[in-house]
Amino acid sequence: MSSKNVRLEVMQFLEKDVESLIEKYLIPIEKIWQPTDFLPNSESDHFFEDVREIRELSKELPYDFWVVLVGDMITEEALPTYESWLMDVEGVNQVDRENAWAKWVRHWTGEENRHGDVLNKYLYLSGRVNMREIEKTTQYLIADGFDIGTDRDPYKNFVYTSFQELATYVSHNRVAKLAKEKGNKQLAKMCKIISGDEMRHHHAYSEFVERIFKVDPSQMMMAFHYMMKQKITMPAHFLRESGDKISTAFEEFSNTAQRIGVYTSKDYVDILQKLIDRWEIDKITNLTDEAEKARDYLMKLPSRMLRLADRVKIPENSFEFKWVEPAVIK
Ligand SMILES: [Fe+2]
Ligand SMILES: [Fe+2]
Repeated sequence: MSSKNVRLEVMQFLEKDVESLIEKYLIPIEKIWQPTDFLPNSESDHFFEDVREIRELSKELPYDFWVVLVGDMITEEALPTYESWLMDVEGVNQVDRENAWAKWVRHWTGEENRHGDVLNKYLYLSGRVNMREIEKTTQYLIADGFDIGTDRDPYKNFVYTSFQELATYVSHNRVAKLAKEKGNKQLAKMCKIISGDEMRHHHAYSEFVERIFKVDPSQMMMAFHYMMKQKITMPAHFLRESGDKISTAFEEFSNTAQRIGVYTSKDYVDILQKLIDRWEIDKITNLTDEAEKARDYLMKLPSRMLRLADRVKIPENSFEFKWVEPAVIK
């Protein structure tokens, strides 16, 4: 049997448990938070006062912070790209209403959709950013799509999502801390609650991988190895500003995130180590020779990457994003 057919069979085998995994990891719509819980209520008489407070507190936050928050928001807003990509993965079938994997993707998308929504509204009210430029970048990013090198392979895709959900947990959580340090409790709460969602999602995707390891250990190991060897590309790697080519904006955005410690190359290595520990890569048995070699590579990778991460020098800010009004540059 080809490895593609085995993957489909494994996905069909795991599908029977997906409904219960939805219950375990996702929160019912009636119970989960909504963006308006963290934003001024436009039906209330206090609305303008609340907005004024947001605008006042926003003045305390520096240029680099806004760049990162905008980049994070745009990354969340490109959700159509992620949903359509996942719907195309082997074993996920949205035409079949009974397909539990498609149900997972839809429910996960519903939760994720609130992230871009709440951040977008907050940024709009803050008065510190150029919304039109941001909107153009979002439209460019969705139009450009992405290529995360996972193909339609569920194994590779679930490694990617396990990694990426943890990476977004780290970055939203750090943004929350920075906001709190500047006395902006409301923004801190908003980013904190988003990071909580990301952590739940990370646990879910990690469990998918764990379950695959139990039934197809060698191929799962090879897929993990493949993804880490080619490196996890960030979902917004095609980010660009109006009039710009792809790449400049993303590089500057990730340099900014490194500079303010929101997401660094050390975090990348940390996440890799967490995945290795979580999946107990050292204890997996019944591996082919090739998969044994892949395991060796993976076990040694964090320390190798850490040595490289130590040498990385983050350039000073030399770029002016159109997203953030120059008046805010401090
Ligand atoms: Fe998200
Ligand atoms: Fe997420």
